[in-house]
Amino acid sequence: MTHGKSAVIETAEPVTKSSILPADPCTIVIFGASGDLSRRKLIPALYGLAAQNCLARRFAIIGFARTPMTGDAFQRSAIDSVKKFADASTVREDECKKFAGALAYVSGEYHHAEAFAKLKILLDELDRAHKLHGNRLFYLATPPEIYPLIIEQLNKAGLARHPNGKSWTRIIIEKPFGRDLASARKLNQSVLKTFDESQVYRIDHYLGKDTVQNLMVLRFGNGIFEPLWNRNYVDHVQITAGETLGVEQRAAFYETAGATRDMIQSHVLQLASLVAMEPPAAFDATAVRNEKIKVLQSIRPFTAENIKTDIVRGQYGPGGESRNSSLLAGYRKEPGVAKNSATETYVAAKLQIDNWRWAGVPFYLRTGKRLPSRVTEIAIEFRRAPHVVFRGQDVSTNALVLNVQPNEGISISFQAKLPGQEMKLKDVKMDFSYQKEFGAGERSAYATLINDCMRGDATLFDRADGVEAAWALVDPILDYFQSHHPKFPNYSAGTWGPHEADELLERDGRHWRNI
Ligand code: BG6
Repeated sequence: MTHGKSAVIETAEPVTKSSILPADPCTIVIFGASGDLSRRKLIPALYGLAAQNCLARRFAIIGFARTPMTGDAFQRSAIDSVKKFADASTVREDECKKFAGALAYVSGEYHHAEAFAKLKILLDELDRAHKLHGNRLFYLATPPEIYPLIIEQLNKAGLARHPNGKSWTRIIIEKPFGRDLASARKLNQSVLKTFDESQVYRIDHYLGKDTVQNLMVLRFGNGIFEPLWNRNYVDHVQITAGETLGVEQRAAFYETAGATRDMIQSHVLQLASLVAMEPPAAFDATAVRNEKIKVLQSIRPFTAENIKTDIVRGQYGPGGESRNSSLLAGYRKEPGVAKNSATETYVAAKLQIDNWRWAGVPFYLRTGKRLPSRVTEIAIEFRRAPHVVFRGQDVSTNALVLNVQPNEGISISFQAKLPGQEMKLKDVKMDFSYQKEFGAGERSAYATLINDCMRGDATLFDRADGVEAAWALVDPILDYFQSHHPKFPNYSAGTWGPHEADELLERDGRHWRNI
């Protein structure tokens, strides 16, 4: 066992300044602790929570991975990742040291019972020594094919629930949750053989973003938007999740995933569900998830026929400019990518939601790597005014835009009169900016979600049926991609995707927003 010197922290009384609430004392076990997700996101998020006294009054963190490492080395690497990836305004030397003191490390193979026996001994030791009440949060941050092994070993080691019957045990499972409907079902079965659904937290970090949650507040916390939120007033909806980054060092994963699995099945469909859902009876896990799944079930299924017209896929070729002004490499030249790869790095789709609220209102989605800007936004495009009384004036339509990132906020565009004698109209904007109003930067979605899980709030996590409904929708698209070979590359790095994506909207007399 290679844990550090003092694997526990006791924090001061929780502060009320932060909107994140502290949780019960507990131990967090990160499987895949030496990996990228843990280093870039999880450790910095846990540090952020601890630094705000919002993790828990007392907590310990155990990293579990195959890489042999001492507890001290794990603590040092955690301090490095905090310094590199945590919100700089929270990083203080003394806090880092204090946080690192709560970290322990267990190295072992995921299929070795002995490794889990070691883990159990350490968990019991920490519980007793630091009164952690036997509460445990397991975070699966390994490659997905290892999830079933870990779940099986947790079960065999008697770690799936605490024998005292009082303490809680919860498990966070990272995306991708399966790679198609069949594998997602299989994974759900394996998870639910060991854990109750109430213990399982399937994470999609988009749901932890403040602006994504704000979409629900905008809709259901205000009286003025919801009456317009339907086919009588909305012309169409556009959801864009654009990234400037290419595939980076993730080819091994991305080559087997592609943009449909990586972004559409999860993040983008989550956003679409939140835009389209009916008001839930309450803001709780059951009510919100019940409404979201109804949206997925109302989306017109994709078939070989409508995929041809309503889905566009792309892969970036060389183009644009890198930081040192040289040409950006095409996807097929990225490290680890096959020279003739058919993996899509871009997808645009037209969804039809066949229900009373949205019949006839298309939802256009697009996501891609190596686009001109990193921007995630949801635009509700309203219908044109029925009659223009201002003769000779071109009246534009109104749009309500939620900027999910990076400039988090909401804006609404409308017509205003230009100053002067003449009646001339101009499109203007009312803007709400998170940064200006609350002074906060982009907060870690992982921090929000880990904290929710520790408090037993599953509202922002996916349920077994939700994840399966999303796969059921994209499965035919994946099958089609598999059997129809694309002409790739078909867009240059640094552009807004293939021209067929523009045609997708032009055919309907619409166009993508200029972002
Ligand atoms: C991840 C995908 O889930 O989300 C990545 O695997 C993608 O490919 C990332 O880059 C985008 O997240 P964010 O928060 O940077 O928009």
